[in-house]
Amino acid sequence: MTTIDQTAVTTGTKKACVIGGTGNLASILIKHLLQSGYKVNTTVRDPENEKKTAHLKVLQELGDLKIFKADLTDEGSFTSPISGCEYVFHVATPISFTSQDPEKDMISPAVQGVINVLKSCLKSNSVKRVIYTSSAAAVSINNLSEPGLVMTEENWSDVDFLTKEKPFNWKLSGSISFIHVDDLARAHMFLAEKETASGRYICCYYNTNVPEIADFLRRRYPKYNVLSEFEECLSSAKLTLSSEKLVKEGFRFEHGISEMYDEMIEYFESKGLIKPV
Ligand SMILES: NC(=O)c1ccc[n+]([C@@H]2O[C@H](COP(=O)([O-])OP(=O)(O)OC[C@H]3O[C@@H](n4cnc5c(N)ncnc54)[C@H](OP(=O)(O)O)[C@@H]3O)[C@@H](O)[C@H]2O)c1
Repeated sequence: MTTIDQTAVTTGTKKACVIGGTGNLASILIKHLLQSGYKVNTTVRDPENEKKTAHLKVLQELGDLKIFKADLTDEGSFTSPISGCEYVFHVATPISFTSQDPEKDMISPAVQGVINVLKSCLKSNSVKRVIYTSSAAAVSINNLSEPGLVMTEENWSDVDFLTKEKPFNWKLSGSISFIHVDDLARAHMFLAEKETASGRYICCYYNTNVPEIADFLRRRYPKYNVLSEFEECLSSAKLTLSSEKLVKEGFRFEHGISEMYDEMIEYFESKGLIKPV
């Protein structure tokens, strides 16, 4: 996450804009904001798409939530939803795992989207902080081989290496980092409201690797058949992500790895998506 400060404005009821309300994180963030008394504007690409916006209609019962149409590639479309907001949470990004041209389909519209959102923030004269959600992939992809690497906000992924090799992240580092989505939403709000917050923040509760997490799952959910052979990934994590800066700022994680998986397994079971062997 990156915080970008602008001129502070006088506040009444706190008002925030969440870019990309159909998204996973955005939906949970909107819920937390409404429950904390914020007024919320959110943007979606297609407000008429009932399948994608049904949950937002439900969230409207929690408080003042307005839905706007906007697209990252449409320069003026954020002016209206951002107008009058003190906080902007930019949590939208184009994602396509099957794209033949990721630079065109993902990177270019994502960059254009950040510029468009920031232009609207500047124009608003109301926005005092922007939280932009990035990814561990911006920090952790590199060709380093020394053991025990601890990645902090000082680290950036190696763009030359990325451009040349086009590696797939987890195969390369063997690392997986976890954060409960409720903690992630709380961290976004925490940094928005924290006067002293500035720059990038890593938000990761738990660092592990594929064999370790498989072992954990096998022991915790013995009724499921969890694989134990993983040919394509490293047997240990080459690096960990440090959230020390966030914790030093005063943030406290509330949800552990067991809770994350218990909730997920319960949900999958309730939907019939997984069945014991
Ligand atoms: N989930 C993770 O494990 C994870 C890990 C690392 C980083 N992140 C980052 O966290 C952020 C949120 O992730 P998420 O999992 O909540 O993502 P998500 O559920 O895939 O949501 C992505 C959102 O971006 C919107 N979007 C895509 N292209 C757009 C465009 N051209 N204009 C406007 N909106 C557009 C989507 O709208 P539509 O519904 O219209 O497509 C959707 O609302 C992203 O920046 C992601 O890279 C997530």
